[in-house]
Amino acid sequence: MNATVLSAINEQINSEFGASYTYLAMTVFCEREKFLGAAQWLRVQAEEERQHGMKLFNFVLARDGAVDLKAIDQPKAKYESLAAVFEQVLAHEKAVTAQINTLYELCFEQKAFVEMAELQWFLTEQVEEEKVAREIVAKFRLVKNDPAAILDMDRELGARSPTRAATPA
Ligand SMILES: [Fe+2]
Ligand SMILES: [Fe+2]
Repeated sequence: MNATVLSAINEQINSEFGASYTYLAMTVFCEREKFLGAAQWLRVQAEEERQHGMKLFNFVLARDGAVDLKAIDQPKAKYESLAAVFEQVLAHEKAVTAQINTLYELCFEQKAFVEMAELQWFLTEQVEEEKVAREIVAKFRLVKNDPAAILDMDRELGARSPTRAATPA
């Protein structure tokens, strides 16, 4: 593998596992606040991010590259509200989309065609990730501080099944 591309993909692996860790920290917050539906949603999300990390992990090894597992920063543990958690989910997913775009651009410049093909999956996945997060945030912005509506939303979030989790090829 091209060394520049390998290094950038290793950064992305770190970022996917970091996202998993961030969503786990959000799970702890929601569970302790007794938003059990949101906690379930975030558990599934954390598992998806772990699988994104593993998808690139397996890809690098298949390409006979060295996976370099870097340190993961301690995630934010406290949030102002349930709505604030999901504002952060959306902001995070937008940032990841930008990261994947930059990584894809690097692969393009480096003529790393196989890596571009692999990253296609991530580009498509980010469209879905942002869409889902944007829809949840829109509802939280609508209901504001209405406790009954917030509890309804929590219940709705809890309906997310683990089967939605991405299945890496
Ligand atoms: Fe991801
Ligand atoms: Fe994500």
